[in-house]
Amino acid sequence: MVASLLFSCLFLTCWGGNNNGNNMANFQLNDDVLGLIVFKSDLQDPSSHLASWNEDDVSACSWRFVRCDPATGRVSEVTLDGLGLSGKIGRGLEKLQHLKVLSLSHNNISGTITPSLALSNTLESLNLSHNTLSGPIPTSLVSIMSSVRFLDLSQNSFSGQVPQNLFQNCPSLHYLSLSWNMLEGSIPTSISRCSLLNTLNLSNNDFSGNVDFSAIWSLKRLRTLDLSNNAFSANLPSGISAIHNLKEMLLQNNHFSGPLPDDIGLCLHLKRLDLSDNVFTGPLPASLGGLYSLTFLKASNNLLTNELPQWIGNMSSLEYLDLSNNQFAGSVPASVGNLRSLTYLDLSDNKFVGGIPPSLASISKLSFIYLRGNGFNGSIPEGLFGSLGFLEEIDFSHNELAGSIPKEIGLLSKLKYLNLSWNDLHSEMPPKLGLLQNLTVLDLQRNSLYGSIPEDLCDSGNLAILQLDGNSLNGDIPDEIGNCTSLYLLSLCHNNLSGSIPKSMSKLNKLKVLKLEFNELSGEIPQELGMLQNLLAVNISYNRLTGRLPTGSIFQNLDKSSLEGNLGLCSPLLKGPCKMNVPKPLVLDPNAYNNQMQRNDASSSSIPSRIHHHKFLSVSAIVAISAAFVIILGVIAISLLNVSVRRRLAFVDNALESMCSSSSRSGSPPTGKLILFDSRSSSSSSSLSSISNPESLLSKASEIGEGVFGTVHKVALGSSQGGLMVAIKRLVTSNIIQYPEDFDREVRILGKARHPNLIALKGYYWTPQMQLLVTEYAPNGSLQAKLHERLPSTPPLSWPNRFKILLGIAKGLAHLHHSFRPPIIHYNIKPSNILLDENCNAKISDFGLARLLIKLDRHVMSNRFQSALGYVAPELACQSLRVNEKCDIYGFGVMILELVTGRRPVEYGEDNVLILKDHVRVLLEQGNVLECVDPSMSDYPEDEVLPVLKLALVCTSQIPSSRPSMAEVVQILQVIKTPIPQRMEMF
Ligand SMILES: *[C@@H]1O[C@H](CO)[C@@H](O)[C@H](O)[C@H]1NC(C)=O
Ligand SMILES: *[C@@H]1O[C@H](CO)[C@@H](O)[C@H](O)[C@H]1NC(C)=O
Repeated sequence: MVASLLFSCLFLTCWGGNNNGNNMANFQLNDDVLGLIVFKSDLQDPSSHLASWNEDDVSACSWRFVRCDPATGRVSEVTLDGLGLSGKIGRGLEKLQHLKVLSLSHNNISGTITPSLALSNTLESLNLSHNTLSGPIPTSLVSIMSSVRFLDLSQNSFSGQVPQNLFQNCPSLHYLSLSWNMLEGSIPTSISRCSLLNTLNLSNNDFSGNVDFSAIWSLKRLRTLDLSNNAFSANLPSGISAIHNLKEMLLQNNHFSGPLPDDIGLCLHLKRLDLSDNVFTGPLPASLGGLYSLTFLKASNNLLTNELPQWIGNMSSLEYLDLSNNQFAGSVPASVGNLRSLTYLDLSDNKFVGGIPPSLASISKLSFIYLRGNGFNGSIPEGLFGSLGFLEEIDFSHNELAGSIPKEIGLLSKLKYLNLSWNDLHSEMPPKLGLLQNLTVLDLQRNSLYGSIPEDLCDSGNLAILQLDGNSLNGDIPDEIGNCTSLYLLSLCHNNLSGSIPKSMSKLNKLKVLKLEFNELSGEIPQELGMLQNLLAVNISYNRLTGRLPTGSIFQNLDKSSLEGNLGLCSPLLKGPCKMNVPKPLVLDPNAYNNQMQRNDASSSSIPSRIHHHKFLSVSAIVAISAAFVIILGVIAISLLNVSVRRRLAFVDNALESMCSSSSRSGSPPTGKLILFDSRSSSSSSSLSSISNPESLLSKASEIGEGVFGTVHKVALGSSQGGLMVAIKRLVTSNIIQYPEDFDREVRILGKARHPNLIALKGYYWTPQMQLLVTEYAPNGSLQAKLHERLPSTPPLSWPNRFKILLGIAKGLAHLHHSFRPPIIHYNIKPSNILLDENCNAKISDFGLARLLIKLDRHVMSNRFQSALGYVAPELACQSLRVNEKCDIYGFGVMILELVTGRRPVEYGEDNVLILKDHVRVLLEQGNVLECVDPSMSDYPEDEVLPVLKLALVCTSQIPSSRPSMAEVVQILQVIKTPIPQRMEMF
């Protein structure tokens, strides 16, 4: 309130001297008071630093942060640096007509400055740096330039161009910094009028355009020139030597080009020269050699050429030399050894050849040496590292170095980073690296290292990256690898390492990447590795590994390329037998539900506590059945539920039927086209012109089946196609995706699901009225027909065939669940969707069709899918449970029971309903489960049938999370089928 009153006073000059005195001095003093109070009123001062600024005072000279000129009694300095002030710069300052110094740096003052803000033209120093001021640089600053010596507007958010007339009259300007703003445009050439300038800092803006360097070279007092991190362009003419006192020239990260000025070496006081990240060309000018004071020279990322001159050794003060990423060639002169003050040397990514100069050994303070990406050859000079005790980082990678790795490397106690990769070093691993407390990166990949991995490598425990791949290392991976607890990348691939993967690796709980491929590692992968929760990538392919993959972590989700080429890993993605070192029979013990103790024992792979007369060993994930009594209750609940579902389904079936018949309404003739996915790559497609009218084709085709998604026809494609048989499914149109693009996308995803146990989707035909899916044709009919609708004349399925069918379905489902993100869920697993070829290979059909529905809610799913009684996973009928791929595992479990018993999942007697799953469970509990085995199957091995039945009961667990994953199911089936001698081979 007071402020606004004062403010209006200020500009109406209403001051009447109503404060006792009327004399002139008093009036003047109060002008300062008034100005500062108004200035203060625009600021927030959370720490009350300006509490002493009292509007009732006669003079401001006693206020904190304010100074007056004793001669005039007027305010001459206001210094408010770092007081945590925010708010705006207001016009109160205009009243301070004798102000010489105004410093507001390191606050949070924001907003734009009024373009007309008229500061006193006696101002000598203005520092607004380190605030958040924005908008253009006020044009009114031109009026203070005649007096100002120091102007710092750095570290704000000023934008726009520098006012063209800013440097019209700047006779006193010594210091100008506009750095770290967002200024753009070019620099007025009138800058050359500021002839006393000794610091010009325009760095870190968006300036562009040509810099007139002849104007800059005329600023003879310049000590610091910083134009870095802009988009300036220009050639640098000679004449720089006129700036006699130049100490620092920072031009990095612009578009400066052309040769370096040849007289640059005459700026004898130059200490710091940064030319990096430009497009300078040509050689280093010979005059540079005279810069005895230069401590910092960085010219990386240019196009500089020629050899590194002998005189480089004359720049004896150099502490930092970076010439990386240029086109320097030839050998490095021995004279670099004269740079005794050097701590940082980077000659990487040039075309240097020849040996590493042994004279480097005399640069005793060297901490960082990078020679990466050149053609250095010969061996690493003897004794080099012995005398360079300060080395922290060494990168000699990507050269042609031969010979051995000097042993003294283990004595470099400060070493953090060692990279000798991609050379031709022929050597054992250097000893004592484990003693290097700070070593975090050790990269020796792609050499010819031999011998074994030293046991003490991990003694310090700080190693984060260890890359030894592509060598000839042999022997075991030492147990002590577990001491490398900071590791996040471990790459030992492409060596000759043997033995088993040490259990101790499970202690590497930061590990993200583990690469062990192409070695001779054998045995099983320790299950404990499943505890490595941070793993993102694992490759164990091409070893001699066997057995199950660890559960947990990412092992279950590895793709084929990370697993293949082993002796017998259990995975749905791999062909060939899986070798286990566990004896039969497995415990797939559904009775274990009663055992509360097992609830938390999920990850244990050891023998559970309750053992009957058999000697049981468990497959961990399977015994992981939890919540004992919940399941018992659930059995009762589902029995009731199934009865109610049955009633509802009769109604739903009727409704579906009427939908189907109304689906083919007459309309305009379809103008669709047939899209066939290329069999070689499902992403490309070709229209088959030979089928001009799919509808006429359909009329000729014979209908072979009907499902919830529509009718299926068998069609022979024209003789030009070699009489290829395909199946065409005509979709029921209701609820199907309306937009051809969406339909195309979804069908193409399904078309990518290629697997020996899946019916391949070959293409589609789309019009608004009609959608057809073209799939592979399976001549041998469905499992439903083979199992439940068998003619007495055809022989029953044998146990080996039944098992083969089960394993095939499991592999197909595992592919759908584990090779796609998100997984493709079938939702409708039942025998009529399992087709068979002549060799009893199962092929799953109708998978993923749910993706073609507009709306996929639970109602649609439970009605349209798994509508056959008995296959409905309980969660599909229960609104509150999350539905995921586990509902397919339920359906699969029911199908196992059907295959083993030959019965339907639900059978109706005179006055009772037999629910197969519960029936088998009861028999199992009574100890005579083999009674339920299909009597038409004369001969079967009990030690396979029994665990398969138990697997079925586990798969049909009421609780989705208690069901195994499809990958685990495949592993278990593989184990069950493995002949006993092989399973025992490890003992
Ligand atoms: C290891 O690094 C730490 C932190 O940078 C440092 O304090 C310590 O001196 C280093 N140890 C050695 C042996 O150089
Ligand atoms: C390294 O690991 C081994 C065996 O795993 C252990 O006996 C030893 O104590 C560990 N050493 C250190 C320094 O942790």
